[in-house]
Amino acid sequence: MNKREKVGEKTIYYNSLSIEARDILEKIKNNEYVMGKTLQKKDNREVRLLTIDGKKYVLKRERGRGLIDLIFRTTLNNVRKLKEKKFNNIYDVEIIAEKRRGMGVEETLILAPYIEGREPREGRDYNKVMESLRELHSMGYFHGDSKPKNFICNHEGAILIDTKLKRSKFGVGKWKDVARLQKRTPEKLDLTRYFGDYRKNIAYYLAVAWVYKKELFRGVRIYQEVF
Ligand SMILES: Nc1ncnc2c1ncn2[C@@H]1O[C@H](COP(=O)(O)OP(=O)(O)OP(=O)(O)O)[C@@H](O)[C@H]1O
Ligand SMILES: [Mg+2]
Repeated sequence: MNKREKVGEKTIYYNSLSIEARDILEKIKNNEYVMGKTLQKKDNREVRLLTIDGKKYVLKRERGRGLIDLIFRTTLNNVRKLKEKKFNNIYDVEIIAEKRRGMGVEETLILAPYIEGREPREGRDYNKVMESLRELHSMGYFHGDSKPKNFICNHEGAILIDTKLKRSKFGVGKWKDVARLQKRTPEKLDLTRYFGDYRKNIAYYLAVAWVYKKELFRGVRIYQEVF
């Protein structure tokens, strides 16, 4: 279950069964952490390395977008559910913190252990990515932003990061994952081998049109772009 705790002006959520999450939270409260380098910085968010007790973590700070942010707590719940189902190729979100303002959320922070590995960059890596996606889909969930950068490849396979792990309703979510992965991968992927048995129903056409909406209006044959 999620535990909620108020620390200063932040509301913190974490899995009450995770001993590690409780320890980390104590350390953070006592300022026993070292901020490391910035991995990514964009207008509304920043990703930084953090060391606690010699162990590396990644802290993502995102400016709030009102109530939409409640979705981040969904991430915490879904990571837990998938880990319980023995799907281990996902980042282990330990703690989520929200800074609220009125009804909305001003800022969200997400803390997860740092995953060693590399961005997928060749056929073998992309195959691992497709394997992980397929397994996730078989459990009824989808990534939601399945570009190569949102996977980290290592000896365990392709680990999903930067995902809210929402449930794939009517198959649209999983088709979006497949289409976005192909769109954002520089080379043509062997999609048939991994997703050839997915049913090309209305969900497929909706998802591909969504992912390739700009190309659609430019007259690109979007369905040939995928498979
Ligand atoms: N848990 C992690 N372990 C290792 N590296 C990570 C982790 N989380 C994030 N990173 C690195 O930081 C980068 C940015 O993180 P993230 O994808 O969460 O941010 P983002 O701003 O949403 O990025 P984008 O919009 O490009 O997807 C990742 O592509 C990855 O290289
Ligand atoms: Mg990302």
